[in-house]
Amino acid sequence: MLTLPSTIAVDGPAASGKSTIGGLLAERLGYVYFDTGVMYRAVTWAAIARGIAVKDEAAVTGLAERLRIDVIRPTVADGRQYTILADGQDVTWEIRSPEVDLGVSPVSAYPGVRAALTAKQRRIGQKGKVVMVGRDIGTVVLPDAGLKIYLDATVEERAGRRFREMLDRGEPAEFDEVLASVRRRDEIDSGRALAPLRAAGDAIVIDTTALGIQEVLERVLALVDGRSAAE
Ligand code: CDP
Repeated sequence: MLTLPSTIAVDGPAASGKSTIGGLLAERLGYVYFDTGVMYRAVTWAAIARGIAVKDEAAVTGLAERLRIDVIRPTVADGRQYTILADGQDVTWEIRSPEVDLGVSPVSAYPGVRAALTAKQRRIGQKGKVVMVGRDIGTVVLPDAGLKIYLDATVEERAGRRFREMLDRGEPAEFDEVLASVRRRDEIDSGRALAPLRAAGDAIVIDTTALGIQEVLERVLALVDGRSAAE
């Protein structure tokens, strides 16, 4: 019998393929897939919806502490990986808007917001059999994860992927604007004082610029096999 690593951390910058690979990997292994980015996005969406300025750190932090975020199985067959509820309201697509993209990195830099959400993420991680995806999973949220993957790609490639996703969803998009938005988020996410985006020392970095989804998945599955221990 082989024992698979019980927690798998997948980190990387915007549109590096974390959610696609994380979702497929969890499905293959029969693990829970948990995308931590949706929590930061839900808090940002709720702030905007309630007229709270993204700059208002105290109010945004209070909201992050109070907001109930549920990630449940898809309730609508419209291509979603899961349904996100913020205080019971379905915000699955709303949290992907350009306004949320603009506000989410500043919101994620607030220590109180990170403290509130990190605690919830650790509780999910402790249950095991989970693939958790984000920016700081291998470094801060689950430093003892059994396998840590860091997915990367050039900013142009990542912006192109996000641009095509938006077009596929029928959203109006300009490549230059998407590129600028991804660059801006990369800068804030990598430059913040607390839990900045970076590969953990023991993470395995995969440059996905020239790789298709299946190729990345195969590499990751090979790494999972390599970390599995014989019982
Ligand atoms: O899907 P995409 O890569 O565009 O972003 P995401 O994973 O949904 O994350 C949105 C934002 O949330 C990031 O740009 C970070 O600012 C923040 N985030 C974070 O700070 N820590 C995490 N563990 C996950 C996301």
